[in-house]
Amino acid sequence: MADNIHLSLKGIRKSFKSGEVLKGIDLDIAQGEFITLLGASGCGKTTTIRIIAGLDMPDEGRVILDGADITDLPPEKRNVNTIFQNYALFPHMNVADNISYGLKIRKVSKAERRAKAEEMLRLVRLEGRGDRKVSELSGGQKQRVAIARALINEPKVLLLDEPLGALDLKLRRQMQLELKRMQKQLGITFIYITHDQEEAINMSDRIAVMHKGLFEQIGTPDEIYYRPKTSYVANFVGNANIIRENGKTYAVRSENVVILEKEAAVHFEGAGPGITESAQEAESVPETAVPAQKLTIKDGSEYDAKVLEKSFAGGQLRIEFELKDGQHVVASRSGLNSVLTAGQMTRIGWRAEHAVEVIDDGI
Ligand SMILES: Nc1ncnc2c1ncn2[C@@H]1O[C@H](COP(=O)(O)OP(=O)(O)OP(=O)(O)O)[C@@H](O)[C@H]1O
Ligand SMILES: [Mg+2]
Repeated sequence: MADNIHLSLKGIRKSFKSGEVLKGIDLDIAQGEFITLLGASGCGKTTTIRIIAGLDMPDEGRVILDGADITDLPPEKRNVNTIFQNYALFPHMNVADNISYGLKIRKVSKAERRAKAEEMLRLVRLEGRGDRKVSELSGGQKQRVAIARALINEPKVLLLDEPLGALDLKLRRQMQLELKRMQKQLGITFIYITHDQEEAINMSDRIAVMHKGLFEQIGTPDEIYYRPKTSYVANFVGNANIIRENGKTYAVRSENVVILEKEAAVHFEGAGPGITESAQEAESVPETAVPAQKLTIKDGSEYDAKVLEKSFAGGQLRIEFELKDGQHVVASRSGLNSVLTAGQMTRIGWRAEHAVEVIDDGI
């Protein structure tokens, strides 16, 4: 990485009237990397890329591209392009003219513009649609035109601020794959913003998790998901339960929470199609299906838990429990079937190795 730094943010600070939004952020990005800024609304993602694009000036810190300090350069001199959520296409121009607008500004000949626009249309899989009116396109097609319009300028860095946010889930999935394909094909560095953790995990080489104007952790999707450093990262990215016990804080992901009573413990090793999920047979599963000391943080302990609520979302049954000390724990499992009912008492646990110790940042 050190040999291959393409873009660096060094100690970037930015305040608005409302207060300090970026509190001294550092980031090194490699050539051709797909890096995602992931974080809750208002944490400073857009401000960060506006500073990279030159649309906002930092109060302190520098932006370095290929070894050159570009902090004071105007946007058009940076070789950086931005795609926003709302496309910002020119409604009165057809698709090809929208795409080749940047070339027209740079006085590229009409013939070359046409050829380049056609190449870009192929790239975004809209070949032959150059003469269409923008108003006749679907949301997904408009976003492809916006992507083509940015890529035609051959930027060194493409900044994408929630580019798929306006699309429905199915189209978003499809466009995620296509964007990733284009990025690898072209070898352009992408700095991508989303607050969708799945999107970040699916697309990124690395994820920078942002929280209140700082990066809490920067790492591969694997590192962020399996080795979260802080309770915020564990909760935001892995939807983990944050468990506080004996002065330590642990993250336990919901799929690793095992229900020990009145429910087939389908999430531990060895669980498979052989384990039935019907209510009657689940009742007959031994009360403690796995030796307790293997399941829990503290040897020999498991937790009495009250079922608070069950809900179904994204193909997962989510069961929320309350422990005796008031902490809440969520278990998730595939499928709808569960014999547990709200208000019922049961016992839950997890394997010691599934509890990752994290720095507690109060979340
Ligand atoms: N031009 C501005 N003037 C004043 N405050 C601003 C300005 N731009 C951003 N802010 C404030 O800075 C904070 C961070 O904003 P930013 O747009 O960077 O957040 P974000 O992480 O992109 O959020 P979202 O996910 O909602 O887009 C917010 O509290 C916002 O209100
Ligand atoms: Mg934003």
